[in-house]
Amino acid sequence: MTTPDTRTPTAPTLHGRVALVTGAGSGIGAATALSLAEAGARVALVGRRRDRLVAVADRIAQAVPDAPTAAVVMGDVTDAAGLTQSIHAARTEIGAPFDLVCANAGSMLAAPIAAADTAEWDTMISTNIAGVLATIRATVDDLTEAGRAGRAADLVLTSSIGAHLVLPGYAVYTATKAAVTHLGTNLRAELGPGGVRVRVVEPGMTESELGDHMTDPQAREWLARFAIENPPIPASAIAESIRWSAALPVGINVASMIVLPTGQG
Ligand SMILES: NC(=O)c1ccc[n+]([C@@H]2O[C@H](COP(=O)([O-])OP(=O)(O)OC[C@H]3O[C@@H](n4cnc5c(N)ncnc54)[C@H](OP(=O)(O)O)[C@@H]3O)[C@@H](O)[C@H]2O)c1
Repeated sequence: MTTPDTRTPTAPTLHGRVALVTGAGSGIGAATALSLAEAGARVALVGRRRDRLVAVADRIAQAVPDAPTAAVVMGDVTDAAGLTQSIHAARTEIGAPFDLVCANAGSMLAAPIAAADTAEWDTMISTNIAGVLATIRATVDDLTEAGRAGRAADLVLTSSIGAHLVLPGYAVYTATKAAVTHLGTNLRAELGPGGVRVRVVEPGMTESELGDHMTDPQAREWLARFAIENPPIPASAIAESIRWSAALPVGINVASMIVLPTGQG
C-alpha cells in the first residue's frame, strides 16, 4: 500500500470539481460558493431568492472571469420533488454530475418552548432536517458514482456548535442541528466505504442573516447580547475550512469540524 501525501496543498485546488451549495444566496453558503469557485470548482447556487443568487454568481464571475463557473438554481429545500427537478436541471446546465455537495440551507427561529409559534418549528424541521435529507437524496447517486470511480466525493453538512450546547430558547433549533450532526456521523458509516467523504461542519457565531428572521423578542435579545460577548467570525472562515478539507487527497476525510470564534470557547 502506498502512503498518501497528507501535506496540505498551499493553494488548495478544486479544478475539475462540480459543487452544489444550498443556501448560496447569503452568509456561509454565499462565502462557500465563492471560495469553491475561486479554487476552480464549477458551482450550482441553490436558494429561493433569485436576486441574491444572481448577485453571488456575479461576484464569482468577477473573481473568476475566465470561465463560466456558476449556475443559478431556484430551489426550495422543503419541496423535495421540486428540489430534485431543479438539481436535475442544474446538472444538465453544468454538464456534469456533482461531486462536492454542501447541504447548508438552514433556518433559526428561536423562541421559548411555551410561547413559540409552532409554524416556526415546522419551518426549522422542514428546512434543517427534511431539507438536508432532500438535498442528499437528490445528489447521493452522483457522489457514490464519483466515489466508486476513485474520484473525490464530498458531502458537507452544515450543522452548528449548537448541536452540543444548552441554550435557553434554542431547544428546537439546536435539536435540528443535533439531528444533522448525528445524520452525518451515521452516513459516514454508510457512504464512507464507497468513497464518499461525509463531513459535518459545526460553526460557532458567524456573520450572516441567520438571526434576522427571528420573531421572538426574548430570543433576539439573547442573540444580540451573545453576539456582543462573542463577536462573530466572517462567513469566509467557514468557507475556507470547507474548501481546504475538500481539497485533501482522496482517501482522507476531515469528518468533523467545529469552526468558531476563539473567544467563544
Ligand atoms: N451564522 C451562524 O452563526 C451559524 C452558526 C452555526 C450554524 N449555522 C448554519 O449555517 C447554515 C447557513 O446559515 P447562515 O448562517 O449563512 O445564515 P443565512 O445567511 O440566513 O443563510 C441561510 C440560507 O439558507 C437559505 N434557505 C433558507 N431556507 C431555505 C429553503 N427552504 N430552501 C432553500 N434555501 C433556503 C436562505 O436563502 P433563501 O431565503 O433565499 O432561500 C439563506 O441564503 C445554516 O444551516 C445555519 O443553521 C450558522
